[in-house]
Amino acid sequence: MSDINTIESEALKAIDAAGDLAALDAVRVAELGKKGRVSGLMKTLGRMSPEERQEMGPKLNALKNRVAEAVEIRKGALEAAALEAQLATETLDMTLPPRPEHVGALHPVMQVFEEVAAIFGDMGFSVAEGPDIEDDWHNFTALNFPEGHPARETHDTFFMEAPEGGAPKVLRTHTSPVQIRTMTNGKPPIRIIAPGRVYRNDWDATHTPMFHQVEGLVIEKGIHMGHLKGCLIDFVKAFFEVDDVEARFRPHFFPFTEPSAEMDVKYTKDGQTIKIGAGDSWMEILGSGMVHPNVLRNCGIDPDEYQGFAFGMGIDRLAMLKYGMPDLRPYFEADAAWTRHYGFKPWLTPSVSGGLS
Ligand code: DAH
Repeated sequence: MSDINTIESEALKAIDAAGDLAALDAVRVAELGKKGRVSGLMKTLGRMSPEERQEMGPKLNALKNRVAEAVEIRKGALEAAALEAQLATETLDMTLPPRPEHVGALHPVMQVFEEVAAIFGDMGFSVAEGPDIEDDWHNFTALNFPEGHPARETHDTFFMEAPEGGAPKVLRTHTSPVQIRTMTNGKPPIRIIAPGRVYRNDWDATHTPMFHQVEGLVIEKGIHMGHLKGCLIDFVKAFFEVDDVEARFRPHFFPFTEPSAEMDVKYTKDGQTIKIGAGDSWMEILGSGMVHPNVLRNCGIDPDEYQGFAFGMGIDRLAMLKYGMPDLRPYFEADAAWTRHYGFKPWLTPSVSGGLS
């Protein structure tokens, strides 16, 4: 009995004196742990006569419960004190200025890529890709550029170093080779756009050696010029966010389409801002045409069974027109101030129903 009283008063004193959670846990182990004093007393129950056990059992249990309870109470108090101390050192100065809202911005070219993908995606097109380093077959020959044809020279091609005994690869001069890859690797019906970088040896206020195009290709049965016109007029209306657009398709030459046409749209100039849709001047915005039968054949598609149309447009200039940027060169100078001014919030994904810009 005296054991019980001594142990209880010593244990409670030690619990009270524990200055932190680690010290408290040491006391708990010393009293209630497997080899602790209270546990030791509990073990003596096994050696007692039934009468003794009947008397001592409840007393020892009560001791164990009181010590455990005291540990819990002390623990709660120590935890509260620790939290108070932490809060006291972690005060927040509410008068500090906020952080800058965002430092990065989506480049207008990427924004326009996403807008174009959203518009054509809505018309059932998917996005296709091809390599920037192309071979002569995909960039020229399969697209019906004859060997030695002057059209090859008009592209100011960058040639890679030729491997021994082989033909040099080129930096693709347009996104049209993705047409060839798509038709060769898949089967009609085909409805794709191919956004990407293209390269030509050119450098002034409106030309950079690397620029961006979006190619489009539709191959299905019974496709005709009317589909081409309807699709592209719908695109221009959606892209420039106008209800109507006056457009004309002016005959042109591309080796890979027959007939070929450049699409012009009417516009007005109000000071420095250009408004697309109506007005008294024409502006060329893209090249297009019906896919040439030779191109279909080069990709293993029977031109008597399938027809299609294709188009290609320069994205940098479309971005300039839509967002009023006067010069192409700063596009690629990685000037953070320019990007902050002309850039877009990267998390606002354009969609036809949710708003493009
Ligand atoms: N590849 C042409 C260029 O870079 C653009 C183009 C014109 C693509 C007509 C087409 C097309 O698919 O049908 O100038």
